[in-house]
Amino acid sequence: MSETKKPRALETKPRALETMGAHEDARLSSPSNSRNKGPLLEALSTVLPISANVLEIASGTGEHAVHMCTAMPGLSWQPSDIAEDALASIEAWRLAAELENIASPLNLDVTIDAWWDRISISPSVMLCSNMIHISPWEAGLGVIKGAGALLPAEGLLIFYGPFCKAGVHTAPSNEEFDRSLKSRDPDWGVRDIEHISEEAQLSGLSLENEIPMPVNNQVLIYRKGAR
Ligand SMILES: C[S@@+](CC[C@H](N)C(=O)[O-])C[C@H]1O[C@@H](n2cnc3c(N)ncnc32)[C@H](O)[C@@H]1O
Repeated sequence: MSETKKPRALETKPRALETMGAHEDARLSSPSNSRNKGPLLEALSTVLPISANVLEIASGTGEHAVHMCTAMPGLSWQPSDIAEDALASIEAWRLAAELENIASPLNLDVTIDAWWDRISISPSVMLCSNMIHISPWEAGLGVIKGAGALLPAEGLLIFYGPFCKAGVHTAPSNEEFDRSLKSRDPDWGVRDIEHISEEAQLSGLSLENEIPMPVNNQVLIYRKGAR
């Protein structure tokens, strides 16, 4: 296979998410994103169709969007986030990558009532990575209800992150992480797959697969049933 040359802008370094200072552009970079984008791509490439309209909720830096869309050119990717610096970063990554299959990010808060009525896209897949444990449960509920409203029959809702099951953590490190999340905000915390699945059922989505990922994370695949 011939080596694909990177667009020149991607050869300059983005700043780390945690650092502030003088920067070349608005691109942010998160160390965890750099670590998990490879395994996430591997997992997604086993479940996504070659061509799909993906709505990514809480895109963060925008690195996942660029990584997935570079590897899977048949995807049309709509990133989104609630935070101004994230929106600027996503747009900067998009422009630097010179990819035609990523749209400019939507400013989207999934805790807003019926947020799905305010957007005019028709995703066949929704992806939400590393968000529902670092936000109040209303955000997770908003993603699930949005998937129920927006996805067609057979459409996929995909979560990535740390999860527990029936109240049991998959590893001591996740239990410790759950404690530290709750100490930062009592409304945050590692979510329970059974609870997510109960809510998903109410929106017509069934858990189809749980894919184990590095460092005790998981990918959860929910599929929309026939209306
Ligand atoms: C830990 S980052 C995860 C970013 C990226 N998906 C990843 O996996 O690296 C969580 C993101 O969720 C976004 N977020 C938090 N609450 C949100 C909400 N109510 N609606 C949409 N995005 C939200 C934050 O702005 C942040 O970019």
